[in-house]
Amino acid sequence: MRWHPWQWICERWPIRETIQWGLDEEVVGGATFAYSFGSINLFLLAILVVTGVWQFFYYVPTTDHAYDSVMYLRLHVQLGWLVHGLHYWAAQAFVVFVALHMTRVFLWGAYKPPRQLTWLTGSILLSLVLAMVFTGALLAWDELGYWAAEVGTSIAGTVPLIGDFLRRVSRGGETMGQETLSRFFAAHVAILPALLAGVAAVHVAAFRQFGNVGPWDPERRRRTGRFWPDQILRDLLLASLVFVVLAGLCAYWRAPITGPADPNDTAITPKPDWPFLFLYQFLKMFNGPWEPVGTVVVPIVSFLIVFLLPFYDRREERNPMKRPYAMAGAAVFTVAEQVGVEHRGAYYEKAGALRDMIQNHLMQLLCLMAMEPMVSFNAEPPEAYETLLLDVMRAEALIAQDGRSWFQPTIMEEQTQQEGAS
Ligand code: HEM
Repeated sequence: MRWHPWQWICERWPIRETIQWGLDEEVVGGATFAYSFGSINLFLLAILVVTGVWQFFYYVPTTDHAYDSVMYLRLHVQLGWLVHGLHYWAAQAFVVFVALHMTRVFLWGAYKPPRQLTWLTGSILLSLVLAMVFTGALLAWDELGYWAAEVGTSIAGTVPLIGDFLRRVSRGGETMGQETLSRFFAAHVAILPALLAGVAAVHVAAFRQFGNVGPWDPERRRRTGRFWPDQILRDLLLASLVFVVLAGLCAYWRAPITGPADPNDTAITPKPDWPFLFLYQFLKMFNGPWEPVGTVVVPIVSFLIVFLLPFYDRREERNPMKRPYAMAGAAVFTVAEQVGVEHRGAYYEKAGALRDMIQNHLMQLLCLMAMEPMVSFNAEPPEAYETLLLDVMRAEALIAQDGRSWFQPTIMEEQTQQEGAS
């Protein structure tokens, strides 16, 4: 009798039953892309773990070698620019998709009883994601990351009574140096990912306990769909789209790096990373004895407002049109977050560049990818196809010329050196 390894394993472990349990779930109201954001977060987490572990092979967590090791990975390791770029862009996308997911569950009123635990664990995940972004930014030990961490740890130092202690613990001493890098490294690659994975598992288990909350309209709630295949196919489609965009970003817009950190650089204006800009702006509004309002009260109260939401908004109503106070509160919160707008000019410029990049290159590339099979299936193309084929070839030549950094890291090296010099 032939030996089937899969069957042999399944006879000893309940793998089939577990897969069945994972896939066999009802989606109240039917599958929709709005329910895909949670899965996209899991997908981004997986990309971050894989590319993060990959970087372990090259990264040296010391102040005299960290920058060079990152540059070596970006410029000289086969596909190193892609691994480094995917890690950077997936982290940025993670913040965006966590915000989208939060907005979605807020609008659907998915934090209301009995789903409080899902919301509470979600809020902890939000803090962990932000902590990952904060600690990760220092690891390349470049100007940008160094000064962002300097600002962050100085802010911790302004907390009344325990500020000094917090600053010294986060820096591993009075000033920034090797101890700081080692601590941020340990937090970024071990402590925070372990917490993130654990809390994410509890979050998804809490979600499965009651299933999805579904539409607020009782009519639409009667419709149902299946997790497999209805929802999973939507999740996979969105995940592949996200991956294409991330890879396009890596090719056309390299992860920023700004020359080795110089603690004596007096010309630089220290600035935190973009997810923390609003806190930085609040900080600037409170001076002297009022400083702790910006450093302690605003961040803690903001977190508590989010964290405790299921406990002070307990009405059953989930229709956003019938929740005026919740919607007004969310609007105030969003506007307050935009207070950091003064510092966002540079990011808006970048957003413009991103839009141009997508319009000019990525869309072309996607259209070409979609058109090519259609063209080549016609062995003897009619005239229209011939013209199309010529157009495609011309556009491809342009993209190949433009996207040469895909294949020639030396050009990226020149660009990076220019960036470092400017
Ligand atoms: C690392 C970040 C996160 C991951 C990986 C994650 C993952 C997921 C997944 C896979 C689902 C089920 C599918 C869905 O409805 O989208 C879900 C549902 C949910 N999540 Fe998250 N989530 C994260 C962050 C958050 C945050 C920040 C909040 C809110 C503070 C939150 C609150 C919820 C709620 C209330 C549900 C239930 C939705 C429903 O019943 O329809 N999650 N999450």
